[in-house]
Amino acid sequence: MPWVNKRLLVLLSGRGSNFEALANWIETHPWPLEIGSVVSNRPEARGLELARERGIRTACWETRGPGGMPAFERALEDLLAADPIDLMVLAGFMRILSPEFCLRHAGRILNIHPSLLPAFPGLNTHARALAAGVQSHGATVHGVSADLDAGPILAQGLVPVLPGDTPDSLAARVLEIEHQIYPQAIAAVAAGIMRPSPEGWCRGPASPGFEALEFRPLLLHPALLQPPQRSLQPPQRSLEPLQGVGEASAQR
Ligand code: GRF
Repeated sequence: MPWVNKRLLVLLSGRGSNFEALANWIETHPWPLEIGSVVSNRPEARGLELARERGIRTACWETRGPGGMPAFERALEDLLAADPIDLMVLAGFMRILSPEFCLRHAGRILNIHPSLLPAFPGLNTHARALAAGVQSHGATVHGVSADLDAGPILAQGLVPVLPGDTPDSLAARVLEIEHQIYPQAIAAVAAGIMRPSPEGWCRGPASPGFEALEFRPLLLHPALLQPPQRSLQPPQRSLEPLQGVGEASAQR
């Protein structure tokens, strides 16, 4: 029996790698999920181009214009009324949705943030994590509430901070784990396996077609699972073989 697809709307402002990871994940997994629209506030967002290449409907309303965010949210409400979706996912959407919009759609908006919330909400998370000297960093998927980066936490991905890390190298490691935690967390909420409640997220029965979907709220970067590198002393330089002795090493 064909299942009714759960429909997602993605909001983004930039390169769209999380959107792309989600679209690839949907393509390669059997769950009845589809991305109905990709919406941006920036016409130059690469994520819009990636969506068009995949034949996904896109919309863009600039927030730099006089209407700002109120006009953007009105247009988005019109789109949602004309084309209902099950879940909105923010994937690098760089504007703050109004508390009224968040309340109207409570439990139906997810965000991914590049830190282990509640640590480092806001911007420049990787540089701040390095400056704070933390040993682990990562990303958090959370429900969007009226308070910035403070909605109930759904899933986290942990990465190690390695010697010599720069904000860019750390960002790249975090992005890798974002691409793994976000699609499966989105699927879990769309499927009803994770449901919003006044206490945060609670587990629920899966919608038809999602019965075998597994949800792991905590993912560890493979680098965290490797045994720690032993710090070896540099090997002692072996003595030069005497003339005519130690032929084996002399032949190498
Ligand atoms: C990601 O780091 C995400 O955590 C943050 O914005 C960035 C978006 O990257 N919210 P991309 O546009 O998905 O590549």
